[in-house]
Amino acid sequence: MDGKDIEGRVDRMQAQIRNDFPILEQKINNNPLIYFDNGATTQMPNCVLECLNRHYMQDNANVHRGIHTLSERSTCAMEDARKTVADFIGCDDPMQIIFTRGATDSLNQVAFGYAAQYMQKGRKVIVTEFEHHSNFVPWQQAAKRTGAEFVVIPMREDGRLDIEALERELDESVVIVSVTAISNVTGTVLPVREIIQKAHQYNVPVCVDASQAIRHGQMNVRELDCDFLAFSGHKTMGPAGIGVLYGKKERLDVMEPLWYGGGMVDVVGNEDTSFTTIPYRLEAGTPNYPGAIGLGQALHYLQEIGTKEIAAWEKELTDTLEQRLSEQKYVHVLGGNVEKQSVISVVVDGIHPYDMASFLNKYGIAVRSGNHCAQPMLRRLGYDSVIRFSPAFYNTKEEIEVIGDRMEKIISFLKKW
Ligand SMILES: Cc1ncc(COP(=O)(O)O)c(C=O)c1O
Repeated sequence: MDGKDIEGRVDRMQAQIRNDFPILEQKINNNPLIYFDNGATTQMPNCVLECLNRHYMQDNANVHRGIHTLSERSTCAMEDARKTVADFIGCDDPMQIIFTRGATDSLNQVAFGYAAQYMQKGRKVIVTEFEHHSNFVPWQQAAKRTGAEFVVIPMREDGRLDIEALERELDESVVIVSVTAISNVTGTVLPVREIIQKAHQYNVPVCVDASQAIRHGQMNVRELDCDFLAFSGHKTMGPAGIGVLYGKKERLDVMEPLWYGGGMVDVVGNEDTSFTTIPYRLEAGTPNYPGAIGLGQALHYLQEIGTKEIAAWEKELTDTLEQRLSEQKYVHVLGGNVEKQSVISVVVDGIHPYDMASFLNKYGIAVRSGNHCAQPMLRRLGYDSVIRFSPAFYNTKEEIEVIGDRMEKIISFLKKW
C-alpha cells in the first residue's frame, strides 16, 4: 500500500476517526487542540470509554474469585481481553499474556523475576543507548545487585544502532538482550528482527520494549521470535495503569514472582506455599481487570481500522512532519537520516525546549519537552532537553501545517528578543 492509497483511505476514514475521539474536539487557549503528545499517552476512542462505562455500570465485580453472575462476567471479559491481546501480537496461547501495570512493570518483572536469577559476575546483560529509562535502569540495577556486567550498545554517528558493537559483545555469557523497537526520543526504528536472530545464535533470549511500536500492529511475536515483549495500554488507545508482558512459555515458567498474595497461590501452609501456573502466578492480587477489558476493546478498535493502515498513515505523518520541521531555519531534527516512526524530536537554536513547548501550548499545540526519560540517549545526542512531536493516526497533515506555521511565528518572535 503506497502513501496515496493510504491517504485516500485515511481521508475517507479521517472524519469518522476524529469523531471517535471526543477529547480532540476542544479548544485550548482559544485554538483547536492539536494533540502531538502520543508518544507519552494516546487518547481513547468512544468505544473504549463506553466499554469502561458499561463495565462499571453493569458488570463490575472482582475477577476469578466469585461464582456470582457479575464476577463471572468480569472474569470472562478479562479473559477475552487476554485472548485479544494474544491475537493482536500473534501469540497462540493467551496463557502467555501477563497483565501488568504497564511497560515499566513488565520490564522490571523480566529483569528481576527472570534474568536476575542467571546474572552473576562473568555474565552480561545488554541494552542499547536508545532505551527509555524503563528499559535501562532495571537492567543496570539488576546488574549492580548481582555483579553482572551491564553493556550499553551505542548509537553510531549516523543515528543507527552500532550492530557491529552488539556482535562483538554477543556470546554465551550474555543473560539477555533487551531492546526497544522504536526510540521514544528520535523515532528511530531499531532492527529488532536482526538483533533477535543474532542473539539466538548464542541462545541468548531477547526482550523487546514495544511501547512505541505496538499500535502499528507489527510486533508479531511468532514472526519476531522474541522471548519477551512489553508494552503499556495507554500508548495504544487503551487506559492507563494496564500493561502487558508476553513471554515464551519456557521463560515464563521459570520466572519468579516479584509480588506474592492472593490469586497466585495453590496451597498455602504455615511453612511454605505452592504456586499456581502462569499467567496467574505472575498476577498477584486483584488485577486491573477494567484496564485489561478497556485494552482489549482498544486493540479491537485498532484491528477494525487496520494496523497496516495505521502504520502507513503514521509513517506518512512522521515523514511529512520531519520534512516540514527540517526546512525551518534554526530547527534541527534529531536522530540522523534513518527510518523513523511516529516520533520526531527537534532542537531550536537559542530557544529552550521548555519555552518552545509553552509557546506552542498557547496555540493549543500539545507537545513534550525535556529528556523524555532517556538521559543516556540525550547525552549521546548532546542535549539535556529536546522538543518531541509524536503524531498518531487521528492527526492530520493540516495539523502539521499549523504546527509548522506556529513554530515559524514563535521562532521569529523569540529571535527578535
Ligand atoms: C519506549 C518506552 N518504553 C517504556 C516506557 C514506559 O512506559 P510506562 O510509563 O507506561 O510504563 C515508555 C513510556 O514513555 C516508552 O516510550
